[in-house]
This record gives sequence, C-alpha cells and structure tokens, in this order.
Amino acid sequence: MKKTIVLSIAITSITLVSFIAPKSKKMQKLPPNDDIEKKIDSLLNLMTLEEKVGQMVQYNGFWDVTGPSPKGGNAEEKYEHLRKGWVGSMLTVRGTKEVRAVQKIVTEETRLGIPLIIGFDVIHGYKTLSPIPLAEAASWDLEAIKKSAEVAAAEAAVSGINWTFAPMVDISRDPRWGRVMEGAGEDPYLGSKIAKARVTGFQGDDLSDPLTVAACAKHFAGYGFAEAGREYNKADIGTVTLHNMVLPPFKASVEAGARTFMTGFNELNGIPVTGNDYLLRNILKKEWGFDGFVISDWASIEEMLTWGYTKDRASTAVRAAEAGVDMDMEGNIYIEELANMVKDGKVKEEIIDDAVRRILRVKYELGLFEDPYKYCDSEREKEVIGKPEHIEAVKDMAKKSIVLLKNENNLLPLKKKKQTIALIGPLADENNSPLGSWRLGSDDNTGVSLKTGLEAYSKNKIEYAKGVELVSNDAQFTKELHINTTDDTGIKEAVEIAKNADVVIMALGEHGFMTGEGRSRTNIDLPGLQQQLLEEVYKVNKNIVLVLQNGRPLTINWADKNIPAIVEAWQLGSQSGNAIAEVLYGDYNPSGKLPMTFPRSVGQIPIYYNHKETGRPVDPAPGDEQVFWSHYIDEENTPLYPFGFGLSYTEFDYKNLQLAKKEIKDDETLKISVEVSNIGDYEGREVVQLYIRDLYGSIIRPVKELKGFELVDLKKGETKTITFELGRKELGFYNERGEYIVEPGEFKVFIGGSSQTSLEESFSIIE
Ligand code: NOJ
Repeated sequence: MKKTIVLSIAITSITLVSFIAPKSKKMQKLPPNDDIEKKIDSLLNLMTLEEKVGQMVQYNGFWDVTGPSPKGGNAEEKYEHLRKGWVGSMLTVRGTKEVRAVQKIVTEETRLGIPLIIGFDVIHGYKTLSPIPLAEAASWDLEAIKKSAEVAAAEAAVSGINWTFAPMVDISRDPRWGRVMEGAGEDPYLGSKIAKARVTGFQGDDLSDPLTVAACAKHFAGYGFAEAGREYNKADIGTVTLHNMVLPPFKASVEAGARTFMTGFNELNGIPVTGNDYLLRNILKKEWGFDGFVISDWASIEEMLTWGYTKDRASTAVRAAEAGVDMDMEGNIYIEELANMVKDGKVKEEIIDDAVRRILRVKYELGLFEDPYKYCDSEREKEVIGKPEHIEAVKDMAKKSIVLLKNENNLLPLKKKKQTIALIGPLADENNSPLGSWRLGSDDNTGVSLKTGLEAYSKNKIEYAKGVELVSNDAQFTKELHINTTDDTGIKEAVEIAKNADVVIMALGEHGFMTGEGRSRTNIDLPGLQQQLLEEVYKVNKNIVLVLQNGRPLTINWADKNIPAIVEAWQLGSQSGNAIAEVLYGDYNPSGKLPMTFPRSVGQIPIYYNHKETGRPVDPAPGDEQVFWSHYIDEENTPLYPFGFGLSYTEFDYKNLQLAKKEIKDDETLKISVEVSNIGDYEGREVVQLYIRDLYGSIIRPVKELKGFELVDLKKGETKTITFELGRKELGFYNERGEYIVEPGEFKVFIGGSSQTSLEESFSIIE
C-alpha cells in the first residue's frame, strides 16, 4: 500500500510539475517533519540499491569544470546514468534552460522521477557580484553580509540553482593560502557570526521559498590549516586548536540551520577528512545533531587513495560512506563501487539508507518533489537578475568592506574639484579582476573599474597610465597566471603623468585570479613589477594614495613606511570602482576592520592576534642584547597591521570602561559598558571590539580573544554608551577532550577599535 501511494506521488510530479506555480511553505525545523519522514520511508522502500546509491552521486555538468577533469564519467555516460536514476545531483549546470533539461530527464525518464538537487559555487554573488568573502568580513556588518547572501541566493535560485557551496567557514592564519579570500579570516568568534549571517542569508527562514537556496558549510574541517599555505596540503591541528579555533564556525553553521556540509581535500592529523568518522559521525551528526547531508569535495573520496590512506577504490568508497560522506562530488567512485560493496556485505545497507534519507530530506524541504521545475521560471530569471536593488546592495557591501590602513596629513578624502589626478597602475582600468575568483555565473569584464568609478564621480582631471602589466596571459579561473616580471616600458609614461599631478592614485595588488583555489604564494609582496613602479612614481610625487586590490593580506612594509595614504579595497565585485570612488571622496567614511593580520614578513606566518604567550615573551631592556627571548633576529614579532585594525576619516575616543561586578559565578553574566565618542571632523562608523584574556587555565589561553563587537554610527562630537554581556558562552573553552568548560580564575577585558585595544579592566570568576 505504502508503495502505491508514493509511486502515485512521483507520477503526479511527472505529469503536473511543469505548470505548478511554486508555493511558499514554512520550512519545518527540528524535530523532523513527520510528513517528510514518512514520504522518505515510502520512497526508500521503492528504491533499488542502485537507485539509492544513485542519489549519493553528484555529477558535474557538461560545460564548465571547477576541478581536474575526472577519469571516467564522460557526457554520454552521465546522460545514461541520469536516465537510469543513478544521479542525485548535478553541479555547475546553470540557467533555467539547462537545469530544466536535466530535471526533465530525471523526472520523466526515470522509474521514480526523483528530482535533482542542483549545486553551484555561489560564493560572493551569482551574476551581480559582491566583494570577495574576506572583504565582506572586513565590514563586520552582519546585516549587510546577510543581505549580500540573500542577493546571491535570489539570483542563483532564479537561474535554476537550489544549493550553493557556501559559506566557506574555514579559519586560516596563513595568507599564503589562496583560499583565504573565500573565508572570514582568522578569528572563530567573528567567523561564527559571519557563518550564521551567510547561512541565514542563503536559506532565509523558508527553504522552499523560490528565492532561497540550501547552504553548504565547508570544508569540514581544517582545510584552512594547509601546511605552509600550500593548497591541498595536510593539516596538523592539535585538539585544543581544532575545538576552539577550527570547529566553532561549523557548529555555528549547524545552529543556523545549514542543510549541507562539504568535506575538505585535506587530511587532518593523518586521516583524510573525507574518511574521518570522528569529525563526520561523532561530532557533526551525533554531537551537533546535524540531519542534513554531507558531500565530499571534488573527487576527494578517491583522493584518499592517492594520500595513501586506502588500498583500492572499493575500500575507499566504503571508508567514505562509513565515515559519513553522503554524496560523492564528481568522483565516480560511489557509482562504481558502493552497490557491489553492499552486496558483498562490506558495507551495511543502513549506511546507504541513512545517506539517501538525508539527501531526500533536503530535496523535500526545497520543495523539489512538489515541483522539480520550481527554480526554472525563465520570466522570473529575467526579472530578478541584476535588479537595481541588488546592484545597490552589492555597492553598499563594497563600501563597507574597504579598510583605511593609513592616512597621513589627511590626504584623504580627496578634494572634489580643481585637482589633477594621476591614476596609475595595472588594476586602475580593470573591470575583470575586481570580480574576484569565484564568479562562474557572472560575465567577464562586467565590474566597474576604478577609472570608470572616479571619472563618474567628480570633475577633477584624471590622467591615466597603466605603468606595468600585471598578468601577461589571458587570466582564467582554471589556468595558471603568468605574472609580468620583465616588461617595464610603461613606467616612464606613468612617471611623466605623476610629475605634475596634485594627487597620484595608484591601483596595485593582485589580479582576482591570484587568490582562490589552487593559488598559493610563497611571497606575498606586490607581485610583478608593481613595487618598482610604485618606487619610481614616488621619486617624482610623494602625494600618493595607494589603493590595494587583493584577495589576501600582503606584505607592504615599504609602502607603509613611505606612502601617505593606503586603502585596502580587496576585490569588491561588480560595483568596485563606484564604491572606491565614494570612499576616496569621503561620501562614505571608511569603517572596515581587518579580519586577518597583515604580516611584516612572510617568515612570521602563521601570525594571528589570538596566539598564546610563550614562556619568554619579553623584550629585554633597551640596550640589553641578550638573545634568550622569543623573537626573530631580523624582524619584529608584531604584525604590520593587526586583526581588527582600520582607520576612519574621523577619530574615536574610548573612555569609562565599566564592569557591573568584579566577581561573577560561572553561571552568571557580566555586564560591561564603555563610552565611545567621535572627536574628529566627520561623521563615522566605528566597530567597537571587546576582547578577553583568561589569565591562567588548565589549558593555556590566548593572549586575547574577541568576544563581542558592535557597530556604532556617531555624528561629529557625539558620544554613545555601548554595552556588552559576557556569560558562559564567551568565557569558557574546549579542553583537550573537546569538552566545553568554564574555569574559575582571573580575566582581563579589553575594549577598543582594534585587537590592539585602548582600555583594560579585570574581573574574576569565583567558585
Ligand atoms: C572544489 C572546492 O574546494 C570546493 O570549495 C568547491 O565547492 C568545489 N570544488 C565545486 O566547485
């Protein structure tokens, strides 16, 4: 009886689906939606083993790739498997027409008509692009970040996509690693807040809403600790660091309702994370109660073989499935091995059933069974993509992401009239690079360049010279870039136009494809001939505003010492030039703060603010040359720009830090307040940051840990009182067994405008 009912549901979906208008239905949160669970039970009863394994298979589409070309799995075979119902999901199929075409095959030609879930890397926008995620993190503006994810979700969803492989919530302390552009930086507290903003932005509060998509927290876990910053490398992470630094943003993603997780390419302490049942089963699925599904990264199941972790393809498939990987991304290993392994008794069918149940659950929640074509309305696609409201949102996000690093003698903001500006640099007239790295759904060369933004903004005379080429080949997502290190012929012209300019704006940094996947660097200076260009121009005009566009922290010591004004403008997406112009002219007062430390030298890496003290931290008295303290003989310990740092055109003053009590019990909350005043000449926004230090503990605690922040808008002369609360959630930590504990003892609390804060107080937790 059960079987008949479900079959008729499936048949109904085949015949009616294309014309049913999408309905908005409240997503059922935990406890599980019984109705859905019953439907899944019935459907599972109908499925053959091969069809079940098929649900665990994701194929890349037939056009773009975002990883190495797979062995096997050619287009013909993929079509055949689609027709047999052996495919549960596709990635990188996009646009209503293409998605409709593959959905049509599975709903009309397969036995059970189970719709596909369509995944795509919607990382910082789909067509209308936001700043790269690291840049967005610099805004510390959770509302704006959420809005940016909403825009991305809406544009992706109307293009047939119902699942994004974002947010990447990997904490990283290593700017050599190219994927830092895709994360929220080095801090687990900020990273967790941003993870939540992004997950809720993508998913909304109703997953079946046709303008939302399922989120995917990735890469679980430890990928951001790739040794030496080299892509796809191993990660050795002690348990305390794992639980306190790496896992919190993942936990926050589960708490925010993320429906899917992706494993990483890395191994962790000797075990590939794709085969790691401690992470996937014990922590994620059991301890955190995650009832969505886990996908591997691109072929990361079969890469366990290459790592030397498994012996053959069959045992590799078993290892991943047993560990808790529910879906194989473009790996061809589940499809080839898993059914036979079940038949041979090498893996229990319950494991397969559990994986399929999780996948079907998300498909039901998305409303795909009601209407497999609900994301395929071509009229809606035209209406929603590139809406003025979306352009406004990404521009707003872009302005808020900019960080002012230096502004000597108030060179900025620029005067709006009667100025001759020399605009110099390979990134000045770039409309492709600002789009960043992950932007497959968008069109090349559609960003607003800095030159276009500046020209549209004021009547100042602008003279432009590129100076040097940055990249000498065609920049592409999948290909190595060739950096120009020889052709300096353009420098002469740049120097000429700089000579008589009132202000020189230099647009330097990294091409958008110099960060992202597969883009590790050993040297994070300005690449190519840009440093030479900067120094030559400096010789003739010192009035330079350096506008950096890059996807990772850079080592820019010379610039910091010599150049009066430095603006960190990252890769800001579609509206880049307009946003930078507005900031340079002071119509938006920069408010961004660095989410990641800028080192002085690559040799200091990993360098991060929440480090631990050494037993010999102290610089000996000046003049005392003894060497026995924790330092380098050729560089300072301090960073060039610390975490949380960023200037404004105005100035903020902090005073009157007050604690409601000096002692609290471990179940009490401590109220803290501080007065922040705008004592400068512009209205502005400050990110007020609160840090703590647990002075001693059973596990040594970091010298500072961010535990609160608040964005405050202040008019000239205005003062506001900001309050924070510290409780168990902020004051405890995970011990070496991964247990969360709050220990009695003495604490410090620090408040200010960066991790090098200005005010400090003490309190204790008593027994
Ligand atoms: C590999 C990347 O590591 C992952 O983040 C991405 O989502 C997939 N490829 C799909 O493109």
